[in-house]
Amino acid sequence: MTGPEALAALARDAANCIRCPLYRDATQTVFGEGAADAPLMLVGEQPGDQEDRKGHPFVGPAGGVLDRALEAAGIARGAVYVTNAVKHFKFERRGKRRLHKGPNAGEIAACRWWLDRELALVRPSLVVALGASAAHALLGRAVTISRTRGRVMEASGDVRLLVTTHPSAILRVPDAEARAKAFDALVADLVVAREVA
Ligand code: URA
Repeated sequence: MTGPEALAALARDAANCIRCPLYRDATQTVFGEGAADAPLMLVGEQPGDQEDRKGHPFVGPAGGVLDRALEAAGIARGAVYVTNAVKHFKFERRGKRRLHKGPNAGEIAACRWWLDRELALVRPSLVVALGASAAHALLGRAVTISRTRGRVMEASGDVRLLVTTHPSAILRVPDAEARAKAFDALVADLVVAREVA
C-alpha cells in the first residue's frame, strides 16, 4: 500500500472508532488530511462544530485563522498534513447551540492511538502542536503554551515538536491590536517550523 492508500485505509477504520464515548454524540470522525509525505504535521485539539458537520479538519473559523497564518508564513496548506489530537467533536448543548468542550486527559490518551498511526505513516520532520491539548497529546503531560512555544522539543516516539498557540485562542482576544500581535506570534512560530522542517 502507498502512503496515501494507507492513510485512507486508516481514516476508514477511524470512521468506526469507539475507543472513547465521544463518538456517541458527534456526527462523524474527523480524520487528518493532507500530504501523505508532508515534512510538517499540524495537530489541533479536536474538530469544532463546522468540522463535525463537514467531516474535515480546520474548515471553520479557526481554520480561517490557520489558513491566513500559513499563507503569511509561506506554507502551502496542501503541502502539510493537518489533524487533531481528538477526532470527535466534544460539546454541550445549550438550546440549539453546540458549545465546544475541551477534551479530558482520558479522551486525549484514547485518541493518541490514531495520532501514533498518522505519525508512523506520514513520518513528518516536524510536528506543530496547535494549543495545549495537542501539546498534551504529544508530550504526554500538560504544558503552558507561553513557556514552551516557538522552540523545537523532543517528544516521545522520536518526534520533533514545536508548540504554538491554537488559532481559536487568537479569535478570542477581544482587543484588535492584541489580536493582531497574537496572530503575528503564531506566524512567527510557523516560520520557525517551516525553516526547521
Ligand atoms: N479546532 C481544532 O483544534 N481543530 C479543528 O479541526 C477545528 C478547530
